[in-house]
Amino acid sequence: MKNILVTGGAGYIGSHICKVFYNSGFTPIAFDNLSTGNKWSVKWGELEVGDLNNNDRLTEVFEKYKFLGVVHLAALSNVEQSCNNPILYYKNNLLGSYNLLENMTKFKVDKLIFSSTAAVYGNPVYSPIDERHPTNPINPYGETKLAVEKLISHVSKTNNINFISLRYFNVAGCDFSYEIGEAHDPETHIIPLALNAAHNNSVFNIYGSDYSTNDGTCIRDYIHVMDLSEAHLLGFKSLLKKQSNYLINVGGSKGASVLEIIQKIKKITKTDFKTQLKERRVGDPDELIAKIEKSKQILNWTPKNSSIEKIIIDAWGWYKRYNKI
Ligand SMILES: NC(=O)c1ccc[n+]([C@@H]2O[C@H](COP(=O)([O-])OP(=O)(O)OC[C@H]3O[C@@H](n4cnc5c(N)ncnc54)[C@H](O)[C@@H]3O)[C@@H](O)[C@H]2O)c1
Repeated sequence: MKNILVTGGAGYIGSHICKVFYNSGFTPIAFDNLSTGNKWSVKWGELEVGDLNNNDRLTEVFEKYKFLGVVHLAALSNVEQSCNNPILYYKNNLLGSYNLLENMTKFKVDKLIFSSTAAVYGNPVYSPIDERHPTNPINPYGETKLAVEKLISHVSKTNNINFISLRYFNVAGCDFSYEIGEAHDPETHIIPLALNAAHNNSVFNIYGSDYSTNDGTCIRDYIHVMDLSEAHLLGFKSLLKKQSNYLINVGGSKGASVLEIIQKIKKITKTDFKTQLKERRVGDPDELIAKIEKSKQILNWTPKNSSIEKIIIDAWGWYKRYNKI
């Protein structure tokens, strides 16, 4: 019995996790309402279409399979949308997680990896950010993720569930053989947006050039989606061996500025698209960089493919394949 429930398994990151778990001998069962995910990206294991907020449908899936554990990615994650529609975000992300934990308890499934985010930290008070950094989210999306972390932590104590919450920094890149990759509509992430500008020779917007960084643009930490997927696998295997609960950062532990990303994309795609400076966006900190000592210690994990060049080369390979260029 090696079935793993992967909520959000038809999404960008979830589909990569399904591939990595499948290749390691597990059978991923993707549970997804396809609101932002894609049916075509479920190539390893099974797809069960359903919504976490439909508790009867979720229970049906728990009755059909015997699960060894759960990787819980299903969530809405557009920061701007969360500010405009917080009820939608709390309902989808928090209530959905509540239903999941209720079913896990009922069916005695006791291992959980949760997709959390660096957005739980809010504006950094020091950098790089370790897991002891204060949590003070600055948008409803980050609040819902922090609330789910707390919910899981409370429920784990009373309902015998062991968990690892992985706090992702910026996830990018794709599967090394370009079978799956990032395909959001609308897209909000910098690398696919800049690749789009490179391909269409369109203008790329840079939001703010007066941050306290070397070149004035924001610095972010990027993690290759295959490194991230490996961290999930190692986390899950550690839950199989010992009963423990952790909150762990997963990032590349290096920063790249918006201008650096643009320069590298121009070089790799051999293009020279135009950029235009726009006003800063509210709530964008100068720099977000992960300290990843804990993941090294607990999971024996380090990112091997998260140089910004490797991430862009892979994202471009996928972009060309997906758009048939
Ligand atoms: N992409 C990043 O850089 C990043 C960074 C930090 C954290 N995360 C977290 O990682 C997870 C996956 O992100 P992603 O980029 O792959 O997003 P995604 O939108 O591609 O994937 C999310 C998946 O969840 C599904 N889903 C959403 N609500 C659901 C519900 N109620 N019931 C069933 N399915 C539902 C969607 O259809 C989609 O397939 C999210 O929880 C997100 O918050 C992502």
